[in-house]
Amino acid sequence: MRDRFLRACRREEVDRTPIWLMRQSGRYLPAYRKLRKTHTLLEICKTPKLAAAASLLPLKLFDLDAAIIFADIMLPLEGMGVSFRIEDATGPIIEKPLRNHDDSSRLKQFDPKEDTGYVLEAIRILKRKLKVPLIGFSGAPFTLASYIIEGGASRDFTKTKSIMFNKPDLWDEVMKRLTETVNLYLESQVEAGVDAVQLFDSWVGCLSPIDYREKVQRYSREVFKRISELSVPGIHFGTGTSSMLGLMSDAGGDVIGVDWRVPLDEAWRKIGHAAGIQGNLEPAVLIGHPTLVKKRAVEVLDRAGRRPGHIFNLGHGVIPATDPKNVSILVDAVHRYGTGSQ
Ligand code: CP3
Repeated sequence: MRDRFLRACRREEVDRTPIWLMRQSGRYLPAYRKLRKTHTLLEICKTPKLAAAASLLPLKLFDLDAAIIFADIMLPLEGMGVSFRIEDATGPIIEKPLRNHDDSSRLKQFDPKEDTGYVLEAIRILKRKLKVPLIGFSGAPFTLASYIIEGGASRDFTKTKSIMFNKPDLWDEVMKRLTETVNLYLESQVEAGVDAVQLFDSWVGCLSPIDYREKVQRYSREVFKRISELSVPGIHFGTGTSSMLGLMSDAGGDVIGVDWRVPLDEAWRKIGHAAGIQGNLEPAVLIGHPTLVKKRAVEVLDRAGRRPGHIFNLGHGVIPATDPKNVSILVDAVHRYGTGSQ
């Protein structure tokens, strides 16, 4: 059943639980590390043939149920005039972080074909080669805002929160502009052929539920409204979100992605069973012994209880120290134990 991922997104019965992994094309793969010896991350992203090849790498090794485009959440920001580089291990660094109205008024209008045409071309190449569904993605307005404002990775997100609390007009302006960009970006990916989209609100768990509700939720809701008009399933992912799963689900998403800090059955109750769930194996389990990998995979499947609408994934991306053999063991275990009633 090649469409079990899309069926699970719609909460339909499947022959077995579908599985794909966030960061499935990363540095834990020797072939990816080899590719990175001759190309930077951004070169791979911006060369459609290489990006498509990177997306396909894990599918050659493991029996995964979906592919994800090889891109980075920062890419559309370049079209808005935000310059950045991506450093090994730390991630994106923004040259001139956004601090005031002058900075926000200099943001350019994003044009997906002009600014990220290479992503769209990679999608078209992949669609010709893939037998499984292709997932497109974007960073969510909040997570993108946090990078633009902090200037890079952050522990406490104080600069972001300072603008959120002290300059509400500026906050709304930035979130509005980012929401427009995200909507245009996702729309162009669907037009190019992706079968589903995931919104990565990776750092939204730094907020209190009330601030999420007052300052962020409406923008994510606008994105999911647009996604539903595009008629593809949408996955709404964040980490550290156990206290705001109801609010995230309310904002939208056919499927809500959860990390490993919350037991999957408890998370699903908070989300409500009218939506599907994606997750939530602790990624570090994959640097453990194969017997632990199997044991923990079965535990996640048991918590999902064979209820239609579960997509197996890690709670966040594959850790670079992961032994690919453990990924094979995981995929096999999910296929073996995640068999439905049909
Ligand atoms: O298979 C896949 O999922 C790969 C495609 C992908 C990349 N970035 C390529 C990449 C995806 C889905 C992303 C999303 C992304 N990028 C997110 C959201 C997902 C998440 O992890 O929460 C975020 C926050 C970013 C920003 C970013 N880019 C960070 C924080 C880092 C450094 C983290 C690290 O693992 O080193 C990057 C670099 C990056 N983007 C890598 C890859 C494969 C690292 C490897 C490299 O430099 O080649």
